[in-house]
This record gives sequence, structure tokens and C-alpha cells, in this order.
Amino acid sequence: MSKIELLQVGSYPDWDQVELDQSYVMHRYFDAGDKAAFLAQVGGSVRGIATRGDLGADAALIAALPKLEVISVYGVGYDSVDLAAAQARGIRVTNTPDVLTGDVADLAVGMWLAGRRRMVEADAWARSGTWAAKGSFPITRRAFGKKAGILGLGRIGRAIGERLAGFGMQISYTSRAAKQTPGWHHVQGAVALAHASDVMFVALAATPSTRHIVDAAVLRALGPEGMLVNISRAANVDEAALIAALGDGTLGSAALDVFDGEPAYNPAFLALPNLLMQPHVGSGTVETRLAMGQMVRDNLAAHFAGQPLLTPVI
Ligand code: 8YV
Repeated sequence: MSKIELLQVGSYPDWDQVELDQSYVMHRYFDAGDKAAFLAQVGGSVRGIATRGDLGADAALIAALPKLEVISVYGVGYDSVDLAAAQARGIRVTNTPDVLTGDVADLAVGMWLAGRRRMVEADAWARSGTWAAKGSFPITRRAFGKKAGILGLGRIGRAIGERLAGFGMQISYTSRAAKQTPGWHHVQGAVALAHASDVMFVALAATPSTRHIVDAAVLRALGPEGMLVNISRAANVDEAALIAALGDGTLGSAALDVFDGEPAYNPAFLALPNLLMQPHVGSGTVETRLAMGQMVRDNLAAHFAGQPLLTPVI
């Protein structure tokens, strides 16, 4: 029997690539110089897309694949997939929830600690060779025991809260409705949450209605001693307002794992010493990436075997 043909939108680790190549004909869209010509050549026989959370599949790509049945996303976020275009044609979409929750929450907490205690600058100070000449690194503000706000109490938001409880933080959160929590406070709206927070974690799935939910007013409410941590999607934060607030001291500090237009980003970020940057590595551990790849393949296999999808989005 001939192999099913898939369009691969981005690169995967070798361990996934080997497995996918064994089971399918993988058309490497990301390697094609002339994307339109490539689609014209192979698009007619593609039945599935294997993509990533950061790359998704837009309406034009979906339209170029008349036999498309399924889109398997390597990532929990599917905001870069045009769900309406998929739904209109009955195309199924899957993602990789749960397996990455712990690692993303770890990174969020690590970014908060590193930013608050200025660990990246302190590392440079220690290895500069001029520690003795410069003297002690400036003291910082305490991390534990303060007020934490979690914008969006989904799986990842809850895992962040559970970790923060170990730091004796008072925890507030937003979500459409109050949830069962161990004494955490439900708050309505991002501004109210920022007022109740020394550090605010953005853990919302990105949708059109959450675009720039963290705006200038939220940053003002966090204040000159406040910190913003974003491990969700850049679109949830108004980057221009963030750059301005960090630059003029309206906001104390920030830590970002996600950027508008990444892997490119606004060069104005580089001039901000009160910003900690991570290159979108929330889910980036061997353990999680192995599990994500397996889930991508298991969803594809289930679909083509006519079995129920493991983690359907639609
Ligand atoms: C990326 C992510 O998918 O899960 C998500 O939504 O953003 C990440 O896990 C990962 O970087 C793979 O590209």
C-alpha cells in the first residue's frame, strides 16, 4: 500500500523525523524555496498537515490542499491554525496538551525568580573578572511571599499557581468563572488582577478577544515594583506599551518567552536591562518534546486508522 502523504510545516527533532519518514511521505514545506510551486506540485495529494504551535496553518495553506483531512499541531497552542477554515471543510485539528504543562510552568517560575533576583546580570558580574574591582552585586527585591496574579487559570496557569504556593505567595487569578482552588482569589479583569499582584503571569490561550489584554493600563496597575511574566503568546501583550513602560519605569521588570514576529523581535527590547528574554523554550525539554512528538504521531495514526483522536481541538 502506498504511504499517506503529509505536509510538514516546520522541522522536528530527528527522533520524530525518523518515525514520521517511516510511516508517511513527508513533504518538507519548510525546506522548499518556492513555496507556491512546491504546493502546486505536491498539494493535490496531501491528506494531513504536521505543524508546530508557533507555525500553525493559515487559510491559504489549507485552501491549497484539497484532500486535507487532519492538522496535527506539535504544541498546545493552536492560535496559528485557522480553525474556521478547517472547520468549514470538516478538517480535524489536534494539539499536544498536558504533556508540556509542567515544563512551561517551571520556566515561568524560573523566569520570575531569575528576573526578580537579577540572576542573569549577576552571572555576568560573577564571570566578568572584575567582581573584586566592582564589589558586591547590587541587592535585589525579595521573590517569595509576595502577591502573584495568574491571568488565565487553565492547565498551565494552575500548575504555575501550585508551584508558587510553595513560595508562600498570595495567589489571585482571572478566569471566566471562579474555580475550585486552595484559597486563591478569583478576580475580574486584567487591571484588577494587576492591582492585586507584585508579579503577574500571563497563561492565557491566545484568541482574538485576548489580543493585547495586557495593555498600558494593566502595566501601570502592576507598577514600578511590579513584574510581568509571559509564557503564553506575544499577542496577549501590547509590546509597544510594554517597551514604553519598561523604558520609563512605569513597570519594574518583565520576563518574556514569546515575541511578536518571533524568532525575530523588536530590537528595542535589547536596550532594556529590566527585561529577561527566553527564545520560546517553555516546552523545550527532552522529556516533553518526546511526548509531544509521540502525541503528534499518535493523533495522525488514529485519524488515518479511523480511530477516535487522542487530543482533538475540533
Ligand atoms: C511550541 C508552544 O509549539 O505548545 C505551544 O503552544 O508554543 C510550544 O510548545 C514549540 O516551541 C514547538 O515549536
